[in-house]
Amino acid sequence: NRVVLAYSGGLDTSVILRWLQDTYACEVVTFTADLGQGEELEPAREKALLMGIKPEHVFIDDLREEFVRDYVYPMMRANALYEGLYLLGTSIARPLIAKRQIEIAAQVNADAVAHGATGKGNDQVRFELGYYALNPDIKVIAPWREWDLTSRTKLIEYAESRQIPIPRDKRGEAPFSTDANLLHTSSEGKVLEDPWDEVPDYVFSRTVNPEDAPDTPEVITIDFERGDAVAVNGEGLSPASLLARLNDLGRTHGIGRLDLVENRFVGMKSRGMYETPGGTILHAAHRAIEQLTLDRGAAHLKDELAPRYAELVYNGFWFSPEREMLQAAIDASQDKVTGTVRLKLYKGGVHVTGRRSPHSLYSEKVVTFEDDQGAYDQRDAAGFIKLNALRLRLLGRRDR
Ligand code: ARG
Ligand code: SIN
Repeated sequence: NRVVLAYSGGLDTSVILRWLQDTYACEVVTFTADLGQGEELEPAREKALLMGIKPEHVFIDDLREEFVRDYVYPMMRANALYEGLYLLGTSIARPLIAKRQIEIAAQVNADAVAHGATGKGNDQVRFELGYYALNPDIKVIAPWREWDLTSRTKLIEYAESRQIPIPRDKRGEAPFSTDANLLHTSSEGKVLEDPWDEVPDYVFSRTVNPEDAPDTPEVITIDFERGDAVAVNGEGLSPASLLARLNDLGRTHGIGRLDLVENRFVGMKSRGMYETPGGTILHAAHRAIEQLTLDRGAAHLKDELAPRYAELVYNGFWFSPEREMLQAAIDASQDKVTGTVRLKLYKGGVHVTGRRSPHSLYSEKVVTFEDDQGAYDQRDAAGFIKLNALRLRLLGRRDR
């Protein structure tokens, strides 16, 4: 009889709000999160109040720092990429929204939560796995799986009949579906559905076309402490401000665009367009500082774990023992991942041009092509190779 709705203030979740009131005759509590999507949130409050929500039941939270510090940064330590390319910008935000919704539900004594994800996608899974992990007894309402508003037209009709304001640009067919936060903007559906058709320019919202980016490269530095970025160009910044700074740089230089066909957890393929400007820079920089500071064994094990970790995040298993186990292993590897990376940003590209660390394992003395003055005895390599070759020679004698 009381439900906490993840409410963006947009048309879809406004229809959901009214539908919940109509269908379940329940009291709706709205929760709107600021994850850095770059939208005004006060209009969401006004809309909720207009639709009869009690002022004390309208929750609007700025979660930007928590999002980057406790979700994006831990994931960046893992170098997680889904299917080798996707930086998981939508996937990583869902567990935080779910967690906050469950907290609010406890606070206002609600027995149910609701979200606006469709029955075809990943987001429903991520929200609901989060809900159930944090409150095993919560009731979940997913209107898209229940109602008969199966087309845009029906949705608009429903909105009109209930005096829900419809933004002008939503009157026609919505051109595509987007999700945005500090880490990325994703676009799927409609004009993007044919994977052969090039993504039209108007889909991009937070990067300039690399072809139109400045002709002169920009050189920046990023400082890391124990695996986390802490400063840009020597200026110390909080996680959210640091990512915002990198987003600005990435936007200017057209960095982080990705056109991808991916495998959804529910089994279908989908085509999406992603813009992850700051995250793309951060990922490259983190890998560069690890090159210097991680031992080979640790680094290669991390590279094996990263796809597993990414799949867990993608499939919605953030609050799971296996993700926490992997996180513990990954975090333990980051103790010495401290230092500075220099990068050049140029027409869509991120190029590492230097790295240094107080904990570097790189020994110029050992690796030099010049006289190493006894730092390394080349004669040791003969036995190393001979024993490694032993079984190859036995095989060769037998088979050739
Ligand atoms: N395919 C991406 C993912 O599963 C993005 C989903 C976008 N969500 C949305 N509501 N448009 O992480
Ligand atoms: C949705 O279905 O709501 C968006 C797409 C997805 O979750 O994968």
